[in-house]
Amino acid sequence: VTAGWLIDPSTQGNRRILLASVPSGELREDHFARDEVAVPSPEAGELLCRNLVLSIDPAARAWMSQRTYRAQLSMGEVMAGYTLSQVVAECHSGYAVGDLVFGQGGWQQFSLARAEDVHPVRRRFDLATHMSTLGITGLTAYFGLVRVGAPKPGATVVVSAAAGATGNVVGQLARVIGCRVVGLAGSDAKLGLLTRLGFDAVVNYRDPGLRSALRDACPDGVDLYFDNVGGPVLATVLSLMNIHGCVVCCGAIAGYDHPENATSPPGIPGILVTRRVRMEGFLVHDYEHEWDAAEEILAGHVSRGEIEPLHQVIDGLDNAPKALIGLLAGANVGKCLVAIAGEVSGRAVRRP
Ligand SMILES: NC(=O)c1ccc[n+]([C@@H]2O[C@H](COP(=O)([O-])OP(=O)(O)OC[C@H]3O[C@@H](n4cnc5c(N)ncnc54)[C@H](OP(=O)(O)O)[C@@H]3O)[C@@H](O)[C@H]2O)c1
Repeated sequence: VTAGWLIDPSTQGNRRILLASVPSGELREDHFARDEVAVPSPEAGELLCRNLVLSIDPAARAWMSQRTYRAQLSMGEVMAGYTLSQVVAECHSGYAVGDLVFGQGGWQQFSLARAEDVHPVRRRFDLATHMSTLGITGLTAYFGLVRVGAPKPGATVVVSAAAGATGNVVGQLARVIGCRVVGLAGSDAKLGLLTRLGFDAVVNYRDPGLRSALRDACPDGVDLYFDNVGGPVLATVLSLMNIHGCVVCCGAIAGYDHPENATSPPGIPGILVTRRVRMEGFLVHDYEHEWDAAEEILAGHVSRGEIEPLHQVIDGLDNAPKALIGLLAGANVGKCLVAIAGEVSGRAVRRP
């Protein structure tokens, strides 16, 4: 074994998943390709990471086909994605072999990172919890709800994709704040789960009578809508917003596979004007300098049993495309993760 390395790079390849073609509608397996290359060596200031857990994010679908807050992926490029990794070799990086780090290692077994581009992870829970409630989507929920929405106790908070990675943390956190929480999700099984997690009311957004079901669930109107989806659901919730209400624009998944849902809903700007509704977007990266402090707060909620981590772990890097396709269709419950190497969680829900 090469001195100072945790792996033997001469006997190990780096399996990768690449963008094979740009999707224009529903995502398919043939939009991805796979290859295997040599494990790279770190240069000065770099670390070589063995990626243990990969975060599957709806945004990856957008990164494949358009310029967003990051450049569009190019053909043949490794799929971008957040990873929890172990340092297996390093070169004057300040990190030690064996350390755990969070970064953007992508859909591959090994990745190089500059020391300033990763965050150290102090392990206190199973790895899946570090990538779900304490990971990128837990932080998104925290900053979107607490900083952008800032609801007061007693406020009615509605959250879409409520059984997903971001939504479940938004709902559980809003309950801790003392809000009345209404969750939207796409199946009875997910609605049952949300009720068990303590949501005050739940509504299936696929219900053709969505507006009246939501009005019944929110007898005092909606003070804060945490919008993970955009599209027709946003249009419906907008019509129920209270005066001086707030819409936290987190994402627009309804339009990622279906561009016809990516248009502005009716009611903008009319409802915003007449009801003085604030609509504000944000990116979790806006708060990167505060991630450690937020992670402490979320860890406290988890330790005290106030927030239950919710994640689904799928085994094997090769299953990452299937995991993203499934996520866009609502197959996931909680944070969707792919285990690339090693033990991830004793408590995770595993897909049969
Ligand atoms: N602003 C930021 O910094 C930031 C950071 C991370 C994520 N995001 C955004 O946050 C949102 C949630 O991401 P996530 O990672 O937590 O994913 P997620 O909620 O775990 O998974 C997506 C869920 O969305 C639901 N969904 C899919 N299509 C839908 C549609 N047309 N209408 C309503 N619901 C639909 C599905 O559940 P159902 O079974 O209920 O349909 C699916 O499980 C995404 O829009 C993402 O882009 C933003």
